Amino acid sequence: MAFIVKKNIHGKEYFYLNENKRVDGKVKTKTLAYLGKTRKDAEKKAKEILKEEGNKEEKKAPVPVKMKQEEIPIEDMAIFCKRKGFVYPSAEIYGGFAGFWDFGHLGVELKNNVKKQWWNYHVRQREDIVGIDGAIITNPEVWKASGHVDSFNDVLVFCKRCKKPDKVDKHEIGKVKCSCGGEFDWDNVKEIEQMFKTEVGLDSHGYLRPETAQLIFTNFKSVQDNARLKLPFGIAQIGKAFRNEIAPREFLFRSREFEQMELQYFVDLNKINDCPYYDKIKNYKIKILTAIAQEKEETVGVLTINEMLKNKIFKNKWHAYWLYNSYKWFLELGINEKKMRLREHKKDELSHYADSAIDIEYEFPFGWQELFGSHDRTDYDLSQHEKFSKKDLKIFDEETKKKVLPRVIESSFGVERAFLVFMFDSYSKNQKGETVLCLHPKLAPIKAAVFPIVKKPEFEKIAEKIVKDLNKEWNIIYDKSGSIGRRYARNDEIGTPFCITIDGESIKKKDVTIRDRDTTKQIRVKTSELKNILRQLIEREIEFEKSGKPFK
Ligand code: GAP
Repeated sequence: MAFIVKKNIHGKEYFYLNENKRVDGKVKTKTLAYLGKTRKDAEKKAKEILKEEGNKEEKKAPVPVKMKQEEIPIEDMAIFCKRKGFVYPSAEIYGGFAGFWDFGHLGVELKNNVKKQWWNYHVRQREDIVGIDGAIITNPEVWKASGHVDSFNDVLVFCKRCKKPDKVDKHEIGKVKCSCGGEFDWDNVKEIEQMFKTEVGLDSHGYLRPETAQLIFTNFKSVQDNARLKLPFGIAQIGKAFRNEIAPREFLFRSREFEQMELQYFVDLNKINDCPYYDKIKNYKIKILTAIAQEKEETVGVLTINEMLKNKIFKNKWHAYWLYNSYKWFLELGINEKKMRLREHKKDELSHYADSAIDIEYEFPFGWQELFGSHDRTDYDLSQHEKFSKKDLKIFDEETKKKVLPRVIESSFGVERAFLVFMFDSYSKNQKGETVLCLHPKLAPIKAAVFPIVKKPEFEKIAEKIVKDLNKEWNIIYDKSGSIGRRYARNDEIGTPFCITIDGESIKKKDVTIRDRDTTKQIRVKTSELKNILRQLIEREIEFEKSGKPFK
């Protein structure tokens, strides 16, 4: 672990980056770099060096010790989500509808927070990316041009033993078995169109979009022009997608209506390796199941981003960068890296639009499965839309004075799969065996619960005032029923990271206690500073125990 030290030499201050290493049972300190004469410079330089060094963490507030993470089957997660108001089978009073789900009062908050975090990271915090919100049903020519009308089919097959229908990928025909262990009837396979078709007006038809990406391609030229974007740049979109899945299963994992958060990043093919961020990320190591390993039935290895590029898993630096950036998004929101890995698509499973594809997989209770997909889409989509629309979609590059049809790197996130991963990854038990949902505070549906320690008007008045003030920024609840222990447990179970209590001291000293969900530790802070401290705690910018006076 590297750290900054200040040395005083002849009355002047100098900053260095040191590292402690255990050698033959003894801790030895090694100086890694000189960082300058001010702490500000030192912190900036250290950050750069540590980023360059690969997986070493940036200096930020440490994640509080988690409760013990608990594995639960997907069926139990669905029951938990329903019981707590996260997710319900759609129209359950009518028996539900396979592949469709409704989000409850907590589910909608978590889902909105996932989308907000994604948008902040991919759009708000970047100069080179803007967003759009396209139509769900659009001109059906779009889907002819994109290749979905011809190629977006599922293969339906029946199991000879359990007789159930199942979906297999084209490259799996003749090679896989049913989950019950039975053989599939390969003599009777059928292709089923995955897009939902619908009537439009009296004599027209349309499709519910199976991916959000195409609306980005059809609007690409106008957006570039109006937002005055210069290559390389990206267009992002969050919205519903629909697929007529033959076998919707594993709760939210494979549904017929879901949401995607997609980013299409446009790069001049001649500058596909001019990625200014690459050197900082190239030494980062990630677990990967390569196409070769899958063919040889070998297991997962660990490669640096640069090794992946050299092995042509990524064909270019921009693709490598975007994959890393997406992976990092999950890590920054607290996902356990041990449960994540990459998987390279084999040649025979590539989508019709992709030249190369790498998924981020997560170890769900039902095995390693795709959480996110990244594709090098080349200029396939833009060329197809040029051909079908007969419009010139090339853009003028001021620098080279040439017209270019850019290459596209796609990062595609499923909102519901991310939602599931955040739920599984945070599902924990405390020492009493009670459920604690250790969600990152940025994602938690409710940021804080405010309690008067007892039901007395003088405490309630303060509590109500605090709730009213904090509610302007976050989803805060006022909870005054039951014992304090019961109120903590109730909030732990739904992932509320902080509980704020008003007690006798609060009236005298104008302060409150804050309890941290993951460590159960408490601090006292001035009521006047509460909002500011809470903001920093939600952002994990400060350490909990250093944010106020320890309180027992
Ligand atoms: N635009 C590219 C595209 O749609 P994809 O791999 O078919 O690529 C991208 O889908 C992501 O959308 C997946 O990684 C997954 O998170 C999500 N997704 C796809 N099908 C889904 C389904 N039936 N139910 C829930 N999420 C799904």
